[in-house]
Amino acid sequence: MAITTASAAASSTTPLSQLKLKPTSTQISAFPATVSRPSARAQKTISIHCSSTTLQTAAPTASATDRVFNFAAGPAILPEKVLLKAQSELYNWRGSGMSVMEMSHRGKEFLSIIQKAESDLRNLLNIPSNYHVLFLQGGATTQFAAIPLNICQPDDVVDYIVTGSWGDKAFKEAAKYCKPKSIWSGKSDKYTKIPSFETLEQTPGAKYLHICANETIHGVEFKDYPSPANENEVLVADMSSNFCSKPVDVSKFGLIYAGAQKNVGPSGVTIVIIRSDLFGNAQSTTPVMLDYKIHADNASLYNTPPCYGIYMCGLVFEDLVAQGGLIEVEKKNAKKGKILYDAINGSNGFYKCPVVESVRSLMNVPFTLAKPELEAEFVKEAAKEKMVQLKGHRSVGGIRASIYNAMPVAGVEKLVAFMKDFQARHDG
Ligand SMILES: Cc1ncc(COP(=O)(O)O)c(C=O)c1O
Repeated sequence: MAITTASAAASSTTPLSQLKLKPTSTQISAFPATVSRPSARAQKTISIHCSSTTLQTAAPTASATDRVFNFAAGPAILPEKVLLKAQSELYNWRGSGMSVMEMSHRGKEFLSIIQKAESDLRNLLNIPSNYHVLFLQGGATTQFAAIPLNICQPDDVVDYIVTGSWGDKAFKEAAKYCKPKSIWSGKSDKYTKIPSFETLEQTPGAKYLHICANETIHGVEFKDYPSPANENEVLVADMSSNFCSKPVDVSKFGLIYAGAQKNVGPSGVTIVIIRSDLFGNAQSTTPVMLDYKIHADNASLYNTPPCYGIYMCGLVFEDLVAQGGLIEVEKKNAKKGKILYDAINGSNGFYKCPVVESVRSLMNVPFTLAKPELEAEFVKEAAKEKMVQLKGHRSVGGIRASIYNAMPVAGVEKLVAFMKDFQARHDG
């Protein structure tokens, strides 16, 4: 069955016609929207009577016409197909008579879900067999501590390249568990650069070199990766905000970690990909929940995992595989990035992106207006046009458009049409 949503046919590029685009543009065929538990009941209005109030709630429908284009940095937009698929399976997952939320994490149904999620992720990133994939909790922030606790000892030196606020947070947290050194910081340039790797002064004997592959707040992205200088040293990367947005050679890294809530699922799931020879070096005080080996030995089921979140990640991975894998995903992201950065560059300075061109993120696009007093108006007017969450991070101000995998090209085209229209009305 193919469901074609309202704007699939829209192809005009003139600013005004773009502004009329509805925020959906998907051909839904891989995931038929069927509901097999009490679907008749689900269509009715549900009344929940509490002691003092009555909640009236409309049951969900498959209609996506009321959705907005959500440019949030995370939790962020999810693929429409995935949401509809999850909706169709909400009450009764594939004939089990249960929602995934109701399943035992040790039952055969959930085991099949987590195993399929892992296998699709391995397929997408071509993860070598000597790497473990862990589905954990606690967000990427927990990994800021878990990494030193697991792969170095309290007296070990480790190197951090600090290209933005997230790298800086990781660096500061590590100081509680080992001796981190910031070997490069972009702070004095307001985090708009990536260093040239040749000039880095890495510390002899450092146990790992940490980078944040994409700085979500500042919009700075590594396009290539540095090599650690020491024998047995590994490269560690926070890929929270560009995970699965492009192919990555996993074998260059000892450890990759990412919170799910930007590109691959809801918040609550953190994915760690770790080379197996790094196990067994945990500091003696490492809490059980932060011990990678324990989670690996138990296939991420040492305790109750974030089951529903893992299921959602699995649906996203399946969708990315169906799209043709990360090579195709990267092409689409490059196209979206070009549309948006071209619009900024071509605005005669009305819009400005502070980041050095060669390292501009394809995921998070920060920009300012030459007249900063117009920024609040920009955000307000965009929201009226169903483009939301465009306000820049509180620490940097301006505007930030996050255009993760799930943002359709039509969403970026609509934003650019709005930007041109806004400029025409406010320039001069
Ligand atoms: C690059 C990066 N690292 C780490 C984090 C922290 O993730 P969490 O909130 O899941 O702990 C974020 C959150 O936005 C992020 O963007």
